[in-house]
Amino acid sequence: GQLEEVSLPLYFGWFLLSSIQDKVRCTAMDFLKTLDTLEAFKKHLIDFTGKAEKEVDLEEYFEAKGTLHCTTKFCDYGKAEGAKEYAEKPAVKDLYGSAFELSLSALFVTPRTVGARVSLTEEQLLLWPADAEKEAGSASLPLGSRAHVTLGCAEGVEPVQTGLDLLEILALQQEGHQGELIEEMELGSLTYYGEGRWLLTLREPICSSACFSSFYG
Ligand code: A2P
Repeated sequence: GQLEEVSLPLYFGWFLLSSIQDKVRCTAMDFLKTLDTLEAFKKHLIDFTGKAEKEVDLEEYFEAKGTLHCTTKFCDYGKAEGAKEYAEKPAVKDLYGSAFELSLSALFVTPRTVGARVSLTEEQLLLWPADAEKEAGSASLPLGSRAHVTLGCAEGVEPVQTGLDLLEILALQQEGHQGELIEEMELGSLTYYGEGRWLLTLREPICSSACFSSFYG
């Protein structure tokens, strides 16, 4: 019935504690600040600006999108496929409101989005929908590949794009594209995958406490 549908959230996910949100935002800002000064980045500026000579300030290019979280299931108040089934999973009911430690293992930047990759543990994968990767047409990537935190979107870009951008990079890797290793930065190694796709694999993953819960909006 209608009431039942209304009782489902916009999405389920892990919500980062506020103290760690600041740390993640600062790390991402530092990275963006450095990235747009690198010669290698300037060489591919056209990916972001459409014009070779134009400068870009990545800190202004991306707009932050609310509280930092890693979406597990987008339910759209029950309208999304599989929303009800997800909400009724025993793991979802049992672990609702529990604390977790998320591992943010990489940062990625594209002309559309900036995000952090989340590497899920076996227990965390119990909360991951079986079809999250298939939905995006990346059926052959391992479960949990899409897990991420959206840190910002370019003007006019919806946050759902962040996970798709991550899957695109992982699909390239799976197809055997090594990317172009640009340099070892303090934070980790920076690789370029063409078409404005940059991946920073963190030397030390950022460990973040997060609560499994839901957002109604
Ligand atoms: P993400 O998880 O990449 O941040 P919105 O504000 O657009 O309604 O989105 C709310 C949240 O749900 C965001 O976190 C967003 O992206 C995620 N989201 C939106 N649409 C989808 C979708 N179709 N599939 C998976 N996640 C989605």
